[in-house]
Amino acid sequence: MKELKLTTSFIVYDGLKELPEEVRYVMDQAILSREKAYAPYSAFKVGTAILLENEEVVVGNNQENACYPSGLCAERVAIYHAGAVYPDVNIKTIAITVASSNYKVEDPAPPCGACRQAIAEYEVKQNTPIAIYFMGETGKIIKSDSVKNLLPFLFDQSFL
Ligand code: THU
Repeated sequence: MKELKLTTSFIVYDGLKELPEEVRYVMDQAILSREKAYAPYSAFKVGTAILLENEEVVVGNNQENACYPSGLCAERVAIYHAGAVYPDVNIKTIAITVASSNYKVEDPAPPCGACRQAIAEYEVKQNTPIAIYFMGETGKIIKSDSVKNLLPFLFDQSFL
């Protein structure tokens, strides 16, 4: 028996002003998309913007449904949108932001487990890491260099 230790690290930015210019632009698109989210049931709006290697930006936001499980998170709306429109273009960066009508979200909100799995599918497919930046409505932004930091021991096509 032996212990297996995994270490990971993230970069923390103090606010939007600290972001590199290109990332700031992508996060601004995520913020704009967040405002268009359809979240009448949770009042929790999520916006995602994806920067592709061809410099296009593709956005998505959460889409809720009266039959709750039929809704979809912003990250998956965005990444499936990118996969549908630009199937052969690699993803460089994903920016995520959340806001609630009930309280001020000041802590960075990471993508849920199902969205991590969806991002992992594309990272494995393109065989290059995808940088993920996530924030609340204001405050700090956390950067992960790869989805693997957020989803160690990921299940991928190599097991099939
Ligand atoms: N949501 C996202 O869009 N992304 C996540 O990673 C977590 C949750 C959405 C789903 C639902 O519309 C609302 O936030 C509350 O869970």
